Amino acid sequence: MSKNIAIGVDIGGTGIKAAPVKLKSGKFADERYRIPTPDPSTPDAIARTVAKCIARFEPSRKTAVGVAFPGVIQGGVVKTAANLDQSWIGINLRELIRDYAGHDVYVMNDADAAGFGEHHYGAAHGRDGVVLMTTLGTGIGTALIADGQLVPNTEFGHTMMDGEIAEYWAAESARSRLNLDWDGWIANLQRFYSEMERLLWPDLIIVGGGVSKSHHMFLPHLTLRAPIIPAELRNGAGIVGAAGWAHQAAKREEDRVKSEAKAAAKRAKKAAEA
Ligand code: BGC
Repeated sequence: MSKNIAIGVDIGGTGIKAAPVKLKSGKFADERYRIPTPDPSTPDAIARTVAKCIARFEPSRKTAVGVAFPGVIQGGVVKTAANLDQSWIGINLRELIRDYAGHDVYVMNDADAAGFGEHHYGAAHGRDGVVLMTTLGTGIGTALIADGQLVPNTEFGHTMMDGEIAEYWAAESARSRLNLDWDGWIANLQRFYSEMERLLWPDLIIVGGGVSKSHHMFLPHLTLRAPIIPAELRNGAGIVGAAGWAHQAAKREEDRVKSEAKAAAKRAKKAAEA
């Protein structure tokens, strides 16, 4: 596989989706592959499915692979799993997938991946200032990007609203769960985004998730200070962002190893001279 391509995998509540991504353009290099999320969504069942998705594209040893997960990830370890099996908490996702796939991977939060994707290749391309990415789906995912730097694991979808977390009222899933018509849902979205503006003062807000296809039904009805616009990469943002992020992370790791080796060689030379 060309070194200008990385593989992105997005673990969602209903499907696990993957594609090879051209790093220059953020476009898919091949058709997206999707496998329904196993039920129950246990770590082993999901890791096995992710490995299948990765194998489908036959990565070379050096191909960077990024995996987006719907929960907080710190140091490769899953810290929360609001909409998945609770047995995920404490699992080292990076190691688990590496074991099943036989290939190293980088793991990150799904909304962070989408935000990274939109900032690199989509609606916020090259934007300075504070960009707030939000994904409206089963839950609400958020990513905060300040002057191009991602602040990982923000969970603003869990801000409290009337005794429940905001995603209970304003996620896309709330429409059917609470039997809301567009007006009812828009009222909840307005409260959520107003709270985001009160706390974060973003310069730009991006809205992703499946429902962003119907953005004309709700975005024009929100009154906010910052422009609020639909994601450009739509449902592909998580895949594209995970691939781009993995490529950067692999490059950083490679640079670190090289400079450590260089420093060690320098030290050895000095010691030999002394
Ligand atoms: C999770 C987030 C995730 C979002 C979208 C939320 O319930 O807590 O980590 O990004 O859903 O999947």
